[in-house]
Parts: sequence; structure tokens; C-alpha cells
Amino acid sequence: MTFKLSRAACSLTLTLGAALCAGVAHAQSPAELARAANIPHPAVIAHRGASFDAPESTRASYLTARDLGADYLEMDLQRTKDGVLIALHDENLQRTTDIATRFPERKDKPVSEFTLAELKQLDAGSWFNSAYPDRARPKFKGLQVQTLDEIIDIAEGSPQHKPGLYMETKVPGLFPGIEHDLKLKLEQRGWLTAGGEVAPGKRIILQTFEKPSLQLLAKEMPKVPKILLLWVGEGSITPASNQTFAQSGEKDKAAWYARQQPKDKAAFEQWVDFAKAQGAVGTGPSAALTQGGDQSYMDLVQPWMNRYTHDKGLLVHAYTVDDPVDYKKVMDAGVDGIFTNRAAQLLQFYGRPAKRSVGELLTQEGY
Ligand code: G3P
Ligand code: CA
Repeated sequence: MTFKLSRAACSLTLTLGAALCAGVAHAQSPAELARAANIPHPAVIAHRGASFDAPESTRASYLTARDLGADYLEMDLQRTKDGVLIALHDENLQRTTDIATRFPERKDKPVSEFTLAELKQLDAGSWFNSAYPDRARPKFKGLQVQTLDEIIDIAEGSPQHKPGLYMETKVPGLFPGIEHDLKLKLEQRGWLTAGGEVAPGKRIILQTFEKPSLQLLAKEMPKVPKILLLWVGEGSITPASNQTFAQSGEKDKAAWYARQQPKDKAAFEQWVDFAKAQGAVGTGPSAALTQGGDQSYMDLVQPWMNRYTHDKGLLVHAYTVDDPVDYKKVMDAGVDGIFTNRAAQLLQFYGRPAKRSVGELLTQEGY
């Protein structure tokens, strides 16, 4: 546990003898750790916006997450050829845009091969209508890739609720210096003070899967809360087995992921210790989901793992959970916040439901 000296207990102890005082301490609970870092507890982190209800990482998705009252808008930052920070999860644009018809000869190229003007020509909404006809809306067609500036405008744009920004440096090796660029943008937009603090009234968390990027984020923005994302496999926590999914002969990837474990306790603890040493406020572990599916990964929210992390004075934000059965499971295991595509549902689970339905909010925003 993290210990801080209790002033009241110390005064009492002083009457008994100063020498005893040094031994009087109490653990900071996870809720106290969160309060000290200005992080809601438990936290609702809208994963790529309200991405169950609208195309991920688009204006519709982030507006809906904001209007629902999510604590944070989550995004994966990448950088265009002309140096603009944008939100996109995948390493190319094929799954979530019409790049294959718009720029067929470059369809598998990374974001860094496109200017912002080119990216803005893409339709980042129609794929959702095809993939999820029951949630489709005609107005999703033609939604655009969003810049960080545009997402900041959304975060600042409602008098009712101002969510924080939960920003991941995605594949940072492809974008050298992105940590510095991010600092400059946050300064320019007034989210960081001249002294490098998060500006009053704002909330920021920086996140990455990669140790070198965490080190750079810590160097650039030492006073901004940071989370080290956890995974088992190459470049992350050393696995118990080196057998790949393909070698396993398994058909169900979620079932295979669920069997993946850290090599031993030390392999897990080493990543938590690294996060602590870099001044992070917590970790972001994966979760194995009851129904499986393509977001079900390794179970890195086992109670002993969360206890170890809390004992180091760090918080735990689990990704990516969309089912009340799993909200309960991971909360019972001790996590302090959840990345979800279904912010409306998680807010309901936490007992702070949105005043209006997703449908009403989307319609109100013109979708
Ligand atoms: O950033 C937390 C969570 O989003 C990690 O998974 O792959 O969706 O970025 P991913
Ligand atoms: Ca992410």
C-alpha cells in the first residue's frame, strides 16, 4: 500500500513518544489516489468516443460521449504527413474509411503517408452503417477523421459537461517526436499551464503501451497523469508460453488470449514497477470478457495484480469492457475505471445515468 503519515495519528503518538510517530501511517485508498490526481473514481472512459453507438473516433462518437457525461474522451493519436495530430486506432485506414476507393494505390499505407487534406476527403462513417445496420444512421455517411484540435473543441464545447482527454500515443515508433508535438498542442490550446501543470478545470491522462513512449511523455510532461497500458506478448509483459495463436491451432482468438498469462509474477510486477518509476498514476490492463469477441484479451485484472498495483500507489483502468456482467467482474476484482464503447451503459452501471438517451442525443446533434 501507499502510506502517508496521518497528522491526527501522529499528534496522538507524539504524546506517547516521538520515536513511535514514524511508524504511524495509513494507506491511501485507490479513491484517495484518484482524488489526489484529479481523476474521477470510478472513471468512465469513452473508448474512441461512444463508439458502440456511432462510428469510432468521429465527431458523432465524441459528441455523444461528451453529451452523455463520460469522464474522458479516449483517442489513439497519430500524425499526418504534414504534421497534424489526428485520432485513428488502426495502423492504416482500411477498416474505418473508404480509402480503398479514394486512394486505392495507397490504401494500406499508414497515416504518416497522407496529408490532412487527403484524410479529410475520406468517409469515416459508412463502414459503421454497413457493419452495424441496427445502429446505422444516414447522417453517419461522410463523417470525417478528426484532428486533436477538433476533439478538443468538442471537449470544450458544452456548457453542461466538459470531459477530459485520455490520449494514447499509438504506434509511436512511426511518429518520432509525437510526445513533444502533443505537449506543444496542449500548451497552445491552454490545457497545460506555463509551468507544465494540467490547466485548472481540465483533465488529461496520457497513455501508451510502449515503455520508450512513456519515458518520453514523462520527460515532456512530468506533471501530467500517465497510464502504462498492459498486454502480454512481444514488446510487453513476457508471456508464459511463446506459442503463437497460429501455432496453437485454436479457432477462437479470445479463448486463446484468455489462456495467455505473464511468465510469472515478477514479469507482471516489472511492468507495474516501470510505470511507477516513470511517475505514472496507474496502469491500463486488458480484460478477458465473458462473451469473448474481438475485444476480449488476457485477464490482467486478477485481484492479486490489482492489489500489487494499488500497493504501489497506482490506479487500474481496464480495457475494453461493454457488458454489465464484466463491469461487475472487473470492479469486484478491484479496478478504478473502465474503458468502454458503451459509455451510456457504464454510466448507468455506476449509478449516474445520462439524462437523455443516446438516440435523443444523436438526433439533437443532427445525426
Ligand atoms: O487505450 C486503451 C485501449 O484503447 C487499448 O486498446 O487497442 O483499443 O487502443 P486499443
Ligand atoms: Ca486506445
